[in-house]
Amino acid sequence: MKDDNTDIVRVETEGEIGLICLSKPPVNAIGVALRKAVHDAHTRLLSDPAINAIVLYGEGRFFSAGADIRDFGKAAVQPTLPEVLKALNDSAKPVITVLHGVAFGGALELALATQARVGIRGLKVALPEVKLGLLPGAGGSQRLPRLVGLAAAIDIICTGREVDDTEAAATGIVDRLVEGAPREAGMEAARDVLAGVLHARQTDAQMITPDPPAVDAARAKLLAKRPLLAAPLKALDAVCASTLPVDQGLAYERTLFMDLMDSPERAGLVHAFFAERATAKIPERASEAREIRSVAVIGGGTMGIGIATAFLLGGFPVQLVEGQSDRVAQARAGVEQNLEGALRRGKLSGATHAAALKNLTCTDALEEVASADLIVEAIFEDMNAKTDLFKKLDAICKPGAMLATNTSYLDVNAIAAATSRANDVIGLHFFSPAHIMRLVEVVVADSTAPEWVTTAFALARKIGKVPVRAGVCDGFIGNRILTQYRKASEYLLLDGADFDQIDAALESFGFAMGPFSVSDLAGLDIARMTRQRKAATRPPEERYSRISDLICDQGWFGRKTGKGYYLYDGSNAPSVNPGATEIAEAERRVLGKDPEQFSDEEIVARCLTAMIAEGARALQEGIALRPADIDAVELFGYGFPRHRGGPMHMADQIGIDTLICRIETYAAEDAHFWQVPQLLRDMQKNGQSFADMNA
Ligand code: 3HC
Repeated sequence: MKDDNTDIVRVETEGEIGLICLSKPPVNAIGVALRKAVHDAHTRLLSDPAINAIVLYGEGRFFSAGADIRDFGKAAVQPTLPEVLKALNDSAKPVITVLHGVAFGGALELALATQARVGIRGLKVALPEVKLGLLPGAGGSQRLPRLVGLAAAIDIICTGREVDDTEAAATGIVDRLVEGAPREAGMEAARDVLAGVLHARQTDAQMITPDPPAVDAARAKLLAKRPLLAAPLKALDAVCASTLPVDQGLAYERTLFMDLMDSPERAGLVHAFFAERATAKIPERASEAREIRSVAVIGGGTMGIGIATAFLLGGFPVQLVEGQSDRVAQARAGVEQNLEGALRRGKLSGATHAAALKNLTCTDALEEVASADLIVEAIFEDMNAKTDLFKKLDAICKPGAMLATNTSYLDVNAIAAATSRANDVIGLHFFSPAHIMRLVEVVVADSTAPEWVTTAFALARKIGKVPVRAGVCDGFIGNRILTQYRKASEYLLLDGADFDQIDAALESFGFAMGPFSVSDLAGLDIARMTRQRKAATRPPEERYSRISDLICDQGWFGRKTGKGYYLYDGSNAPSVNPGATEIAEAERRVLGKDPEQFSDEEIVARCLTAMIAEGARALQEGIALRPADIDAVELFGYGFPRHRGGPMHMADQIGIDTLICRIETYAAEDAHFWQVPQLLRDMQKNGQSFADMNA
């Protein structure tokens, strides 16, 4: 046996078998160095007359996460992945790839280019490029159909979904599925190839028959589900080209791939990928997280039920406390319904569903939380009620318990001050429905112990959430931005845009629902209560739109009353409520305003600029750590379209000069609302972008 190692690839030989091992932590991402190392290792083994078969496998948790996403948008460096794969595909000696853990994107394409594939049980494969605004760019769209058929390849590639080990074996993506270590599995497979027991084959020459009905159905589905995205449709075009001779198909695939590489959709989705991960880099990360084994949730309303469900889905025993005895059964039923829904959607197995039900206890006795490691308060949004509760918790809870409030606006410092253990108090702001929405704002109060911050992050990740660190202020990161976004849309309505035009413009931008549809869903009365709470501190120079209050005065609170901005009759799609339109028109007359015309672009520009300006203020005040954290908040908690990357990512696309110019122009109409944040001025002076701040 002889070894020939680089930092990222180990090469060894054993008898007539050569082995190439990918060794580039954390995920064996295939960047230029790894491509070159694999290419060189393969060339060397080809020229070694003692070698008759080559095994390619990976070290660490995974075979590989695919192409190095950090290289996207940079100039291509040779050897490119298609060049490396061509050499493997043309290999005079059979190459057997062993896949374990994960083989995504370019990693699966690499395996598809080789002559045999072995899967280790537990393997997941995918061509998830569409999720990054791309399509498989190294042969995946041509070689997968040749293994699994056109219709199955369309499904896998256009959705980017994961394929588990059983499906990979059943569809022929892997030739065999085994238990054990990748190196040994590779050796055994190579011996079998040499003995003729395992068939090493080249599938490129295979012809694929066109299937117009399958293609038409897939295109119609994509247009209905993701009308704004280019990548899935181009991926479909690429897969269709697999009916051509392979060289033509590969060339067509590469052209489409390079087109998408330059698209804003790709830039937005890749930014979203990294933003989701960047939030973990917090100043407290050196402090060791504490162990949380049991959770108590206080409050049996929608939020409490959702939070309890989220922890149960994460495998924690949960005590749900609902102070009103007659509502305890209802709270339990709510959690059970959520769990049932998760079971139906395939989010948990029958066994984990049963375990989650067993893990739930419901009570009206607050004293029963005495032994919980974490207590999450989710009662209604009232400071006196919250401070009263925290005083009681201080007396009841065991020393060393973590006390969390799910407040969405209130001062976590004041809540902490109600206890004698302010350093154990933290904000954990979940978003409704809490068992589905992925964002959790971790609100760090002045006295919060750093270990609780790392604990909150670890816990949130454990239950599948995206935690984002936020400082204490009214509305933290997300709701303070939401407030400005809503105000911008209300001012547009007041100034002459129709609410359905505003909703339609923002929906065309990519939001699932416009702000007025969302208000109807959330309940117009709820927003009115928040406005009433803030009325005393509202600056006199702030414009106030009464339209929503006047709609509430009619008893129209949105969906729950069948009427709000829209009419809901349960059967048809919501239609504009003429009564709401009349109220808006009458209010403009009262204010003596001639309605202005706004284009859809102008509507989006104003709403987005309001969000960006507030995001910049949150950064300037240290409420958010970095622009990418704000983007993560918007993407995972507020339905900001993922392919747009988030408001701060968009700010860089728009340009700081343009943003400042926009705000100054709008300020001519309303100098109180439209103020240029100092941070934008500083960025303009220093030639800085938000991306620079993320780096
Ligand atoms: N390139 C570069 N970095 C990557 C990466 C990739 N393909 N995949 C993951 N990473 C990085 C993450 O950013 C993270 O870095 P950080 O620690 O600095 O934040 C680190 O690796 C660990 O990743 P995760 O935190 O996500 O680790 P998990 O264990 O939770 O998940 C994973 C691992 C399932 C592999 C997940 O990271 C993932 O899904 N990665 C993306 C896979 C993907 O989309 N591949 C396709 C790439 S496109 C392609 O191959 C084009 C081709 O067709 C030419």
